[in-house]
Amino acid sequence: MKTLHIILAGLCLTLAAACAQQQNNDRTEEGNAVIENIMSRRSIRAYKPCTVARDTMQTILECGINAPSGMNRQSWEVRVVDNPETKAEIVQLMAAGNPDVDPGAIKGCFRGAPVMVFIANDPAYDFSVIDCGLLSENIMLSGWSLGVGSVCLGSPVRFLRNAPEALAKLGFSEGYTPVICIGMGYPAESPEAKPRDFGKVRFVD
Ligand SMILES: Cc1cc2nc3c(=O)[nH]c(=O)nc-3n(C[C@H](O)[C@H](O)[C@H](O)COP(=O)(O)O)c2cc1C
Repeated sequence: MKTLHIILAGLCLTLAAACAQQQNNDRTEEGNAVIENIMSRRSIRAYKPCTVARDTMQTILECGINAPSGMNRQSWEVRVVDNPETKAEIVQLMAAGNPDVDPGAIKGCFRGAPVMVFIANDPAYDFSVIDCGLLSENIMLSGWSLGVGSVCLGSPVRFLRNAPEALAKLGFSEGYTPVICIGMGYPAESPEAKPRDFGKVRFVD
């Protein structure tokens, strides 16, 4: 009986080692396109004037909505503005709703991105902001993997809050609230990585 236990334990160890080896072979860090994509992404604040083709945006947005969401509620709505006239109209409506703000600051809040993605959440669901954050990151990372730069933008949301006509133009459903914007386009700059603090991360034993 003791010999059988020793043989079984030996078998388990061999299987575990083979499993770890297999995982290492399949998913190495070196040359891993996903890790490389995540680590090389930067916020882009200078763009080439050309827009992003709608079929490319379609792929990026499909990646966005394939993000996980609480109970698969997909508690987001997304509006994409790639038409310069519509963008100018929205800027104008935002400026009208924020008369105390320098109109240049409102125009500048989009960082010159040719495509703007507006994301609204459903405040009735307590994890909705998380859903939208995950959607946003999928959009930005899939975009980056296709050479499309992006910047996550909070400031337009603040301006939109005071601009009902701009919000009406975006046409979110009743009850949905803009939570974040993403500016997108082909990068005209290659910024250095911003520092990160790994001290905020800890293994707990
Ligand atoms: C919630 C949120 C709001 C942000 N708002 C703005 C913004 O209004 N304007 C801007 O230029 N960048 C904005 N950013 C981009 C951050 O400044 C940027 O992600 C951060 O400095 C790290 O740089 P990196 O994205 O290049 O790694 C925002 C990012 C997040 C996540």
